[in-house]
Amino acid sequence: MSHPVILGVGYAVPDNKVSNDDLSKVIDTNDEWITERTGIKTRYISKDENTSDLAVRAALKAIDDAHIDPKVIDCIIVATLTPDAMMPCTAALVQAKLNLSHQRMMVFDLNGACSGFLLALQTVDALIQSAQVTTALIIGSETLSKILDYTDRGTAVLFGDGAGAFLVSSSSNAHPWTHFVNTQGDLEDTLSTDGLSLNASLKNIQGETPYLRMKGQAVFRFAIRAVEDAIRQVILKSNLSLDEIDLIIPHQANARILGHVADKMNFPLSKFVMNMDEFGNTSSASIPIAFAQAKAKGLIHKDMHVLLVGFGAGLIWASSLIEL
Ligand code: UT7
Repeated sequence: MSHPVILGVGYAVPDNKVSNDDLSKVIDTNDEWITERTGIKTRYISKDENTSDLAVRAALKAIDDAHIDPKVIDCIIVATLTPDAMMPCTAALVQAKLNLSHQRMMVFDLNGACSGFLLALQTVDALIQSAQVTTALIIGSETLSKILDYTDRGTAVLFGDGAGAFLVSSSSNAHPWTHFVNTQGDLEDTLSTDGLSLNASLKNIQGETPYLRMKGQAVFRFAIRAVEDAIRQVILKSNLSLDEIDLIIPHQANARILGHVADKMNFPLSKFVMNMDEFGNTSSASIPIAFAQAKAKGLIHKDMHVLLVGFGAGLIWASSLIEL
């Protein structure tokens, strides 16, 4: 049976880098608070690139890294909670911008919030194993700044824009990946966006932004449990032990969450890849950005066991264990 193998990775962020000090000019906050509570120092906020534009730039880097002809791609999935529009799906826009519109392809968006990229990875694994797809672009891309309420200091300082991409191909020699996912839907109101109004008035509704809302402490408590659970569950399903994990690439929400998990699991914090200091929380883009940046820094090598772990709105938590 064929399994997926990662041929290339890439990431892209907007040019506009915004520091904590920059934010403190428009919100009642300060660098010390944000740094101590989250580990975040800067984030990128897009001025003119939408989710599909960032996705395309990340995808081109992954294609370049893979050294393949993009004409072999037969699937594009964009994990996002901030699509360019409700329709068409961002993945179709990406296909067009990559000039791949005239080849047979399955494309769709997937919204699993901060776990979205891992849901897309798990979906592609299943599509490859069932021989429906041979070569897939899996992209996490967000322009979260579109849905941030800049009067809410509890959320506006945390998030940033960006995209990360994996180019994955079917191989008969690849090591199988192991996955875990779980959801607790009755906690949906701890992390959500404002809903869109129903409209029986038959009059147009103007200017509704579905702002992001979060009960920070509830999400913090959930995250500590969820990250440990997702790590333990995926290891249990594999034939490996925790000691054999070379690197953990987690969703980049808060350095303190990862510190708690590392302490509780007695696992070295140095094996957790962290880059929220530069990028903030980019939701579905954070894991592929962290992976691509770690690879560019030479931290990722063949035969390593890399564990990806995500958590967020849904509430959904997920993990994938990949032997490279
Ligand atoms: O991918 C999504 C996953 N999301 C997360 O993982 C977020 C998880 N939660 C967290 O990371 C933390 O809960 C936050 C960083 C969001 C907040 O940290 P906290 O330690 O839970 O702070 P808090 O909400 O309990 O607020 C403590 C104080 C409050 O002031 P008072 O009432 O004690 O006077 C807040 O008003 O900090 C205040 N505060 C701020 N002060 C300066 C809240 N946000 C800010 C801010 N700057 N940006």
